[in-house]
Amino acid sequence: MTRPSDLVVARTRAELATARNALEGPVGVVMTMGALHAGHARLIEEARRRAASVLVTIFLNPLQFGPNEDLARYPRTLDDDLRLAREHGADVVFAPGPDVVYPDGDPGVRVAAGPLGAVLEGASRPGHFDGVLTVVNKLFHLTRADLAFFGQKDAQQLLLVRRMVRDLDVPVEVVAVPTVREEDGLAMSSRNRYLTPFDREVALVLQRALRAGEAAAPEGPSAVRRAARDVLVAEPAARVDYLALVDPHDLADVREHHQGEALLAVAARVGSTRLIDNVPLVVGRPVG
Ligand code: PAJ
Repeated sequence: MTRPSDLVVARTRAELATARNALEGPVGVVMTMGALHAGHARLIEEARRRAASVLVTIFLNPLQFGPNEDLARYPRTLDDDLRLAREHGADVVFAPGPDVVYPDGDPGVRVAAGPLGAVLEGASRPGHFDGVLTVVNKLFHLTRADLAFFGQKDAQQLLLVRRMVRDLDVPVEVVAVPTVREEDGLAMSSRNRYLTPFDREVALVLQRALRAGEAAAPEGPSAVRRAARDVLVAEPAARVDYLALVDPHDLADVREHHQGEALLAVAARVGSTRLIDNVPLVVGRPVG
């Protein structure tokens, strides 16, 4: 397998088409909004391992931000991003502006995430997942990727991308990549850059709550919820948006008798920053 000696950066559709045509297949895509960190790097490395060529997209998608969200202050670090992408094995970076992705302005036709897009993150961020799926679908078409790598960190997004691929027959294989964490357990996020040193300490409560829930998993769903909530209430500086123990396939709250796979997910505001995290669990005692 040969690799291009240097990274190709495409800013326009024409540049992307030229770069894409020169790639050996199968092509893996890692879609990002920039401000790249070690979590994104893991996705790129996984793509490098599984695909012959790796295409990274860096696009801060206005469509998935609500009017009062952090689009304006979202970190923009393109030079560092290109360096990280190159170091971890990207062949091509597609970094378009909004006018390239949305030449006619906001698109009138969009992908509807449906009921799975209305709960958890979707309940707090109306329209968010329609915006995510619309751009992900466009980027599937523009990149013609064979494989696409998404992080477990955004579990609901991962589930919805899988659903869209199935429901709309998108010819791509979706690969999930586990959450990458800082040494102290904080899930890597571009938004961690907003945290003050005080916020950074407070933010650890998300991870502590998930671990407490995980430890209580053999005792069943209500024990998991109680253990995680007890940790969260002890840190009033974190304003909890939701704590949910759900079925990972349909995001429905798991019932008390439930045994088996579940997803414990949390969202909280720390200072001016909204953070999310989750952990997959097996709840209930195994029979026998
Ligand atoms: P962004 O937040 O930049 O994340 C890009 C990808 O990196 C997503 O698949 C996300 O789940 C993954 N990721 C982020 N932090 C991670 C971590 N700590 N460990 C593992 N993977 C992590 O998610 C988006 O951008 C956008 O919604 C996008 C899909 C690009 C559409 O605009």
